[in-house]
Amino acid sequence: MKLHINEDHRLSHIEPEIYGHFSEHLGRCIYGGLYVGDDSKIDNVNGMRRDVVDALKDIKIPVLRWPGGNFADEYHWMDGIGPKEKRKKMINTHWGGVIEDNSFGTHEYFELCKQLGCKTYVNGNVGSGTVREMSEWVEYMTFNGVSPMADLRKENGHEEGWTVDYFGVGNENWGCGGNMTADYYGNKYRNYQTYVRCYNGNKPIKKVCCGPNADDYKWTREIFETCYRHPAPKGTHGFMDGFSVHYYVVVNDWEHKGSAKEFSKEEYYRAMRKAYYMDEIITINDHIMSEYDPDKEIAMLVDEWGCWHDVEEGTNPGFLFQQNSMRDAQVAGATLNIFNKHSDRVKMGCLAQIVNVLQSVILTEDDKMVLTPTYHVFHMYRHHQGADLLESYLEGDEKIGIGEDVASNVNESVSIDKDGIITVSLNNIDVDKDNIVEIDFREMEVASVEGAVLSGNMKDYNDFENPEKVVEKKFEGFEACGKVLKVTIPPCSLVTLRICRK
Ligand code: AHR
Repeated sequence: MKLHINEDHRLSHIEPEIYGHFSEHLGRCIYGGLYVGDDSKIDNVNGMRRDVVDALKDIKIPVLRWPGGNFADEYHWMDGIGPKEKRKKMINTHWGGVIEDNSFGTHEYFELCKQLGCKTYVNGNVGSGTVREMSEWVEYMTFNGVSPMADLRKENGHEEGWTVDYFGVGNENWGCGGNMTADYYGNKYRNYQTYVRCYNGNKPIKKVCCGPNADDYKWTREIFETCYRHPAPKGTHGFMDGFSVHYYVVVNDWEHKGSAKEFSKEEYYRAMRKAYYMDEIITINDHIMSEYDPDKEIAMLVDEWGCWHDVEEGTNPGFLFQQNSMRDAQVAGATLNIFNKHSDRVKMGCLAQIVNVLQSVILTEDDKMVLTPTYHVFHMYRHHQGADLLESYLEGDEKIGIGEDVASNVNESVSIDKDGIITVSLNNIDVDKDNIVEIDFREMEVASVEGAVLSGNMKDYNDFENPEKVVEKKFEGFEACGKVLKVTIPPCSLVTLRICRK
């Protein structure tokens, strides 16, 4: 098989935010995963786990979405500010019925993002909150003058307003966020977003409208019918800057999703088929958006994606804790390649969720931490952040799988960074045999190549007893000859090559 690369044809810019993450007040994501409090025995900086923050910095985390998810539409931000001992305790009704003590709130979120050095993406409450509550939160977070909310923030110890890069106006409002119709939400969106103000000289906040549940294209069309504003007032994209799309790979069905650790080859290929479906979801949503916005000024944000398996035995079903195998890594690699390929429209992706929930990059248990195979994929793909997508296509790839569960045996994406280094991500999903790919450049001759590989049995995973079963390794399975590079990709593996031209 051949991978053709036109090294001179840049197609679009890959925003770093495509490699973003999502954190919700759910299970042990925030509490125990990211935040332990400053009186914890676990090593922390102002309450944030040092080991987790360091690991996330190593994958160059570009943006972190918070506080939900479903939790966002029940979250009343004022419960999470002020002296901790006075903060309200409540039941987290969505997720496990446990007590939420609100010790992680607005100030803690911005502290975490400061430590991570990432952009901020705050999700507001439309489902059970008022316009006033949302608008006051934005005022509290960002206003630098004299006002009731800015004064309250100062009383709570933060003189300067923070930067909110993205603000989500509701979450999944077609379902858990209020069970609204598109028409009803569309009008609410227009109303609520009006009061997401950009105060005196601040960086404009990018407003994100709730998009469809995956392939609910009717929702997309109706929202654009209601909310698209053309021509947009100068310096704005009208009512919205971003449109969110959510899609999870559920291997079987929602009732019996299937185990994260024990699965058949058939279920492996089913996961891959379902992962590849992301391409169609983005393509069709993009077509509908382009009917209104042909210049692609409104970004698509796939701000929840990943594998959703059954919870691990003996864990709280509401905590969504699952293991993470090479299968998950393959889903991540294929999905990130799809995002890169659609980077003309897709400007953000947020893996659900960052620590201890669903397809995490990190798992923790007390003071221990383990990096999942998916973590290593993000590490290998970090070179694509901020690079330009290059034109590339496969010739001679074949379908692999069982019965209806078939998918192309190899997936890829290619980018070029500001130093002219080309990054090729090339994944062999075939669990039984290696695949030889001849990379054929248009004219360029190869000067040097460095490679990394993530490889294993489809069911391999890392845990606290065996944390390094699946780790990124140096890859040497290539031979360069002029403008052709012959690569042998082992079974079930992901390869990243960094190529310099002569
Ligand atoms: O990520 C878990 C949940 O999935 C989120 O809270 C919700 O938005 C989605 O349904």
